Amino acid sequence: MQNYPKDNDSEQYNRFLNNSILQKAVHNKKIAVIGLGYVGLSLAAFLGNKANVIGVDANKKKINSLLSGVPPFYEPKLEYYLKRAIRNGLTFTDQINKEIVSSDFVFITVGTPIDNDGKIDLTNMRDVSANISEHMINLKNRPSIIIKSTVVPGTTMRVIKPILEKNKLRESVDFDLLTNPEFLREGSAMQDTISPHVIVVGGSNNESIRKLTNFYRIIYKKKQDIVETNNVTAEVIKYANNAFLATKISFINSIANICQKLPGTNVDKVAQIIGMDPRIGNQFLKAGPGYGGSCFPKDVQALISFANEIGYEPILFDAVKNTNSLQVNAILNLVKHHLRDLKNKKISVLGLSFKENTDDIRESISVKLVNLLLRHKCDVIVHDPKAIDNTYQVFREKIKYSKSASDVLAGSDCAIIMTPWEKYKDLKEKDFLKMRNPLVIDSRRILKLSNRKILYIGLGIGN
Ligand code: UDX
Repeated sequence: MQNYPKDNDSEQYNRFLNNSILQKAVHNKKIAVIGLGYVGLSLAAFLGNKANVIGVDANKKKINSLLSGVPPFYEPKLEYYLKRAIRNGLTFTDQINKEIVSSDFVFITVGTPIDNDGKIDLTNMRDVSANISEHMINLKNRPSIIIKSTVVPGTTMRVIKPILEKNKLRESVDFDLLTNPEFLREGSAMQDTISPHVIVVGGSNNESIRKLTNFYRIIYKKKQDIVETNNVTAEVIKYANNAFLATKISFINSIANICQKLPGTNVDKVAQIIGMDPRIGNQFLKAGPGYGGSCFPKDVQALISFANEIGYEPILFDAVKNTNSLQVNAILNLVKHHLRDLKNKKISVLGLSFKENTDDIRESISVKLVNLLLRHKCDVIVHDPKAIDNTYQVFREKIKYSKSASDVLAGSDCAIIMTPWEKYKDLKEKDFLKMRNPLVIDSRRILKLSNRKILYIGLGIGN
């Protein structure tokens, strides 16, 4: 088993593990987590370290892998907590049954993708809810069904509640129904689960809300901000949170594109100073190729569709989305400007995951860029510390793959840094001098290259 370095989170967590009163209070609780993606699996691995937890996912292959302690995706610290929780009794199954539904807390963490029309697809949500309802008939206890998945406003009470109430069951009598959105980030999913910045619990009555908030107060010994509200407000909070962060990114990317045309300016300097205004804040002002991943693109789109449906035209969110889709052109235009004809040019793309510390390439702008380069008939070679396998599934033999961040540069006409992996910061000038034409486009401005033989272009640095 890997050695887990001591940090603040693990210290806080160890304090919890070593406190026997807290352990007992939590240990008596039966918990089910349905849907084992980043949110569900991190939660199961965290709670499973002392409580009585079962994880459920319809994907049998995933369940088999988890039963042997192997996470189905790369996420820092997850394997450590998972293995520890399994030793403590955490188990997994691919079937929902009466035993699972009779848990004190049944967390639903299934995926809520968008369909071809850009609207939220609640199929997983509906199926799981119907399945839970079937198994809730004649239960002796009153489970709390907790919606952690991101769902558009109104879903919990207008869509999920009627499904759960089939079979003559009543919310707040036979079961409680809570909305408890999650704010964790991939790449720090465990850390964010162990130490969330806020906990939002929405419900229809105080008694049902308190059951969950009391549990959270025991688990999170540190005084965590816990907000109690109604279901629909909890749903709006989640979308507002993600849409605001996406807006910040599109905003700073727009400023980067302006700086690009202004010699002597650097978007990072601008971001640093405006971030000193507490009304703005210094986070999420890192300009780059645009946001990707499984949340922002999908959630901004779902919010736009939802707003249109209820009769509001969300022009701001449309602009955030469009700015993001066009940002890849800022990179492509730099390549075109410096290489002119792209045909048969060897382009090295460094970083494929949508952000560092994950192997996830969903909605990654790197994938979009590689597709554009292929359309321009470039010879593309890529590197990523974790995401090569996933990328191979998309491009197969259409591109080349390099195992080393330095080798990917050999003989290249242009290197493009897309994901700010730590290891790219260690690349030396001599690595770039292996290129046929040392042109480096750094979309995240992580490199410091001063050798005159290298043409370094930082996105958002005026030149
Ligand atoms: C996001 C939210 O942060 C999280 O609260 C929510 O629960 C799920 O969605 P995640 O998608 O895992 O988390 O990653 P995040 O760190 O937010 O980054 C999203 C994208 O924005 C990445 O492509 C990242 O590179 C980009 N980004 C982020 C920027 O371009 N600049 C920034 O300053 C921050």
